[in-house]
Amino acid sequence: MSMEYSLPELEDLAAKFEEEQPEKLLAWATAQFGNDIVLASSFGAEDVVLIDMLQKIAPGTPVFYLDTNKHFTETYETIERIEKHYQASFIRILPQITLEEQANLYGDELWKSNPTSCCNLRKVEPLTRILGEYTAWITGIRRDQAPTRAHTKKVEWDSKFNLVKFNPLAAWTNDDVWAYIREHQVIYNPLHDQYYSSIGCEVCTRQVLPGEDPRAGRWSGFEKTECGLHK
Ligand code: ADX
Repeated sequence: MSMEYSLPELEDLAAKFEEEQPEKLLAWATAQFGNDIVLASSFGAEDVVLIDMLQKIAPGTPVFYLDTNKHFTETYETIERIEKHYQASFIRILPQITLEEQANLYGDELWKSNPTSCCNLRKVEPLTRILGEYTAWITGIRRDQAPTRAHTKKVEWDSKFNLVKFNPLAAWTNDDVWAYIREHQVIYNPLHDQYYSSIGCEVCTRQVLPGEDPRAGRWSGFEKTECGLHK
């Protein structure tokens, strides 16, 4: 089922769901978009919450992850544990080129010389490819994660990838996320217990010290704060 909405209609929906709990929006979105909606998961704290909610609301909803080949071992193990727990199978999206091909084409450790180009090759292009198969996607972004995300709406038009974007946790705080994880005993990446608040590729993620910005550990030392998945 494919649904088309005008920008004013999406704004109305965002306003309608602003005060509602994430589960309500997930239930509505999955009912409306059926097989045309997908959850993007990095298996960070927000995404494991969304997976748990979806398992209860619409367990058939597809979930994909962008496998950059450079995630932490703990992240790969978390994926396996979650798949086993819910008896689910997540869609693994790989970049078009292997790490070896990338090194041959652009030099060793592109993530150090040009992290933006590396993110483009290993995350943004693969994301563009998978989103082309859907008319709506669900993400775990929250407003208080970063100034770049402060104006995130729960329902919006994603003009970069040309589909509807649902951000059910936009209004939640970090505490809300962790309260859900504890209450529902959701499986999470153990790196969160070791001062990793936001987890991306191993080569571009470091621990965050108490008092630091939660995303300070991403692309630390570079001006970069977003990899290009979110505008
Ligand atoms: S990022 O753009 O800086 O990497 P972040 O780690 O905060 O994003 O995650 C925000 C949201 O982007 C996640 O909740 C998830 O929906 C999506 N996302 C991030 N990384 C991935 C990934 N590797 N695979 C799929 N979705 C991802």
